[in-house]
Amino acid sequence: MLKKLTPILLISASVLFFISMAYDEESKTQSRNFIFTIFNDQPDLPEEPFAYSDITFPSHFSNDTIETGYDGETDTTILDFVTDDKSTLGRVLFYDKTLSAMENISCASCHKQENSFAENKAFSEGISSLTKRNSMSLNDLGWSNNVGFFWDMSFGDMTEMIGLPLKDENEVGAVIEDVVVKMSMTDYYPDLFIKAYGDYEITEERIVESLVHFISSMVTFESKFDKAADSNFSTFTQQEFDGLQLFQQSCATCHVEGNLFGMNGPGNPTSNQIVMELPFLFNNGLEVEPIDKGVGDWLEGMDGLYKLPTMRNIALTAPYMHDGRFETLDDVIDFYSEDVVETDWNFLIPADGFNFNSYEKDALKAFLMTLTDESFIVDEKWSDPFESPVNNTNIEIQEISLAVSPNPMSTSAIIDIQNPSNETLQLKVYNELGQLLKSDNIRGERYEMDKIGLIPGVYSIQISGINKMSTIKLIVQ
Ligand code: HEC
Ligand code: HEC
Repeated sequence: MLKKLTPILLISASVLFFISMAYDEESKTQSRNFIFTIFNDQPDLPEEPFAYSDITFPSHFSNDTIETGYDGETDTTILDFVTDDKSTLGRVLFYDKTLSAMENISCASCHKQENSFAENKAFSEGISSLTKRNSMSLNDLGWSNNVGFFWDMSFGDMTEMIGLPLKDENEVGAVIEDVVVKMSMTDYYPDLFIKAYGDYEITEERIVESLVHFISSMVTFESKFDKAADSNFSTFTQQEFDGLQLFQQSCATCHVEGNLFGMNGPGNPTSNQIVMELPFLFNNGLEVEPIDKGVGDWLEGMDGLYKLPTMRNIALTAPYMHDGRFETLDDVIDFYSEDVVETDWNFLIPADGFNFNSYEKDALKAFLMTLTDESFIVDEKWSDPFESPVNNTNIEIQEISLAVSPNPMSTSAIIDIQNPSNETLQLKVYNELGQLLKSDNIRGERYEMDKIGLIPGVYSIQISGINKMSTIKLIVQ
């Protein structure tokens, strides 16, 4: 009965290495141009893991003198299971494209940190086609909004849901055994599994569990709303406060978060009862479409119902609704104000919309903006560990013509260097173990090398400039 929606789990530790040979007729010398495309070589991880487990719920969650819709109903120990090492592993998996068959897609392809892990497109590009629905944000799923997943709530458990893409051969295109082999061959996964689990056994269960830890650690408790709620909203502007009240009257009948959805909202008791039977599901006045019936796709008689998405970080997750039809929050508010259609379910919204005036619209938007946690999208602990300025770039590296004589040398040698533009070049001398013994700057086309500090043996001399580099062997007697 459950619909199989499949987020595609995909991962990359690949270094593509293209070499193009160019033959220079004029000088009759062969020069080689290399193009390195460097992807995701190694994740860049801190020595000590980030403090994923250090999650403190704002005090208004346990303070029932302030009306915020969370009061007393949220279990503030619900995230105590999160560990730093499992989350670190989950972070690497989330961003690693080598998990995917073609090594070209990861969770982060459709779930972007700057969009609170949604994507700023109506539909995302999957392996072979666009996704059926708009990508969803992943913030606050560990403690709120977590009794059903996907827009149609077809999966009730995060572990079961995230396990899907790993199992579904069609969607991922890679069997779990292949992924395990690929991961075992990297320098970093065995180590990450040892840290997280005490041994380096790589299993599907562990992969899924660490993704659950990573995603569950994503909370937005640094928002202006949370800080203001802790101080009885004294830091809100009048407009934000008016927006909060409007939201409580018109929107919180449905958009109340916490685990007991509908229980602590200010809606009337009769409708709350219905909401309790169908937690987190509703229709908000969008017309029911035959091509996407929401819950109706898997549950008879439930056409046009969708998961109630969180309002936390909502300003970051445009476009909006299950099909990404609205570009901005203004469009969303205009819709609730004027454009709702009547369906069997949307009795919590007046038949002709809320008819907000322009002050009310601005106030609602101002309030929604206070739910943004600005630190969330720049926090390194949720960022791409494979991304560094040197990764994902094409560098064309040209060879420099070099000659050294005499070679072998006994006391000194002359290095002839092709350097027509008289650029400053760097010289580096390495021993057979790859240890750097000597470095110097060179201008001009000749460099005299002396034996000082070099015992008999074979050395590598590397000469480099901007986008050029060559190496030559030198034997010292
Ligand atoms: C090709 C794009 C794509 C990829 C890759 C992808 N997702 Fe998603 N994800 C989506 C879309 C689209 C939805 C909403 C689908 C729906 O409701 O029909 C979604 C929904 C989710 C949800 C449900 C959120 C909620 O509030 O119910 C979670 C959790 C999630 N994805 C996690 C992941 C993880 C973890 C990975 C990597 C293993 C992943 N996704 C890979 C596009 C993607
Ligand atoms: C009758 C219940 C209900 C009421 C009342 C309601 N909403 Fe919604 N809201 C929903 C549902 C259900 C969705 C998801 C609908 C979909 O995608 O098809 C939604 C979606 C949204 C979204 C888009 C979220 C996203 O991630 O794309 C925003 C923003 C929103 N509502 C804001 C509001 C505001 C502001 C109000 C008050 C003016 C309000 N809602 C009143 C049920 C409701």
